[in-house]
Amino acid sequence: MLPLLVPMLAMVFTLRGSGAQSVTQPDRHVLVSEGAPLQLRCSYSSSVSPYLFWYQQRPSQGLQLLLKYMSGATLVTGIDGFQAELRKNETSFHLRKPSAHWSDSAEYFCALSDTVPGAAGGAEHKPPDVGDFL
Ligand SMILES: *[C@@H]1O[C@H](CO)[C@@H](O)[C@H](O)[C@H]1NC(C)=O
Repeated sequence: MLPLLVPMLAMVFTLRGSGAQSVTQPDRHVLVSEGAPLQLRCSYSSSVSPYLFWYQQRPSQGLQLLLKYMSGATLVTGIDGFQAELRKNETSFHLRKPSAHWSDSAEYFCALSDTVPGAAGGAEHKPPDVGDFL
């Protein structure tokens, strides 16, 4: 079984004028054997109910949205067998896949957007500090 190397990066989408929110991905790299369960952790901090996203970026490809939580059921099923559960008690949104495949070797971004009523000015994208994560 070949181990997969899965680097992760965090991203925060901020709405203009809104306050402190962030996402934290405590693991920089995760090694998982093909066929084994994959879990990528993400914790968030937000003063309001957040929108949460997981993106995947395969080598030399664009960002692909795997799944998002906006409201309603806290267990979210995405593409490619990925799932994430919003746990408000842990302020976490970990990404899981029951059985990793070699093609899952990619960078993963957990992202958050605050949902501030009236802040319809569009989302700003704050790029990750690459030096912090690589
Ligand atoms: C948070 O809630 C989930 C169920 O929604 C539970 O499985 C988990 O153990 C809880 N975590 C803590 C720290 O209480």
